[in-house]
Amino acid sequence: MRYRMTVIGTGYLGITHAACMAELGHQVLGLDIDADRVRRLGDGELPIHEEGLAELLRRGLASGRLRFTTDYREAADFGDVHFLCLGTPQRKDGPAADVSQLDAAVDALAPHLTRPCLVVGKSTVPVGTAARLADRLRTLAPAGEDVDLAWNPEFLREGHAVRDTLAPDRVVLGVRTDRAERTLREVYAPLGEVPVVVTDHATAELVKAAANAFLATKISYINAMAEVCEAADADVVRLAEALSYDDRIGGRFLRAGLGFGGGCLPKDIRAFRARADELGAGRALSFLGDVDAINLRRRARVVELARELVGGSFEGRRIAVLGAAFKPDSDDIRDSPALDVAAAIGARGGAVAVYDPAALDNARKAYPELGYATSATEAARGAHAVLLLTEWREFAELTPGRLEPLVAARNLVDGRNVLDPAGWRAAGWNYRSLGRR
Ligand code: UDX
Repeated sequence: MRYRMTVIGTGYLGITHAACMAELGHQVLGLDIDADRVRRLGDGELPIHEEGLAELLRRGLASGRLRFTTDYREAADFGDVHFLCLGTPQRKDGPAADVSQLDAAVDALAPHLTRPCLVVGKSTVPVGTAARLADRLRTLAPAGEDVDLAWNPEFLREGHAVRDTLAPDRVVLGVRTDRAERTLREVYAPLGEVPVVVTDHATAELVKAAANAFLATKISYINAMAEVCEAADADVVRLAEALSYDDRIGGRFLRAGLGFGGGCLPKDIRAFRARADELGAGRALSFLGDVDAINLRRRARVVELARELVGGSFEGRRIAVLGAAFKPDSDDIRDSPALDVAAAIGARGGAVAVYDPAALDNARKAYPELGYATSATEAARGAHAVLLLTEWREFAELTPGRLEPLVAARNLVDGRNVLDPAGWRAAGWNYRSLGRR
């Protein structure tokens, strides 16, 4: 069965979800309050860098199954299912999540809901949000009790968003009624065989927070081992490799280095902890404070390594920063470890030249005070140190021979442990990394 559905909020999650649902054969109306964004999406212009998504967007538009609007009344008239894909960033005044976009969307949609429908939350939220929004919908919607709510968290990774949505490893349905479960099973039926976990609202909300907390913990765990390796003159890359053969541990998310950033993991672990505090379960998640601290210490450590390499002060030193996106294959710079390091070095008097294959425009807007280059080699020209901070393939493939004629001094920090230390040292470079001697 194909549905008429809306996708409210056209950020990373919303655009991907809308385009993928149209690809599955549903009739999809995407809604955003940003008229310019809606116009551009309607013209097939993708505002983010995401593999395979532009093609899906254009295919959806051409098929007539995908459209965009700014009009909540139109959305309410059109959809039998309404997906909420609003952002829930960190609050400006503290660690908790800011759910105001979600609240505003529900407040705008509800008064137009005059017939039975299912509203489905996909955003990452503090546990208890679904119950609160369900009450609000019941109160504000003319259809009252006939407006049902489900929570269906999204686990997509940037850079793999289309694949993660069309071939998810699991679907989690937090529902209160059999009808909501049936509807969502039908919506996702075209995906084929996928494990489905059916549960209540609160558990579904918590699954997402718990998954991201686990992933962040795994990264900080290996980065904590990196700190110990540095103190003990050991090698965290070999250590992680040895751990990975134990399939109870597994090798994924054990890449030691500059740590995690992005629009999800950092703010999600803070929001999760803040919510547990509110619920009186703060002690259970106090370890996430350490996970966060270990992660941020890696950034400080890279700044320190670079300062040592250039003789103790950044004044009058040129520093090439390779990477601005929070991870490769993305142009997302939200809480980017690379830019955090670049900004810290700039603030300490270093002349920074940042290069990134996709995120330069975003970086320039957010950090206009930094210097930028249009290629890795241009960034390296005259540099007293080269810092590899986001592991784009083109950086991992750099060779000493490429950079040697350009740099002012052969100093390198491999912030993601992707280069071969022996090769760079043999070529006369001072090679430093996180967690390797
Ligand atoms: C994450 C979750 O993976 C995804 O399931 C959730 O829906 C949203 O948050 P994403 O933010 O796209 O996805 O990035 P992810 O691939 O998880 O990487 C997060 C950060 O961790 C990046 O900065 C990456 O560089 C870093 N990382 C990842 C490491 O430092 N080491 C690793 O081993 C893995």
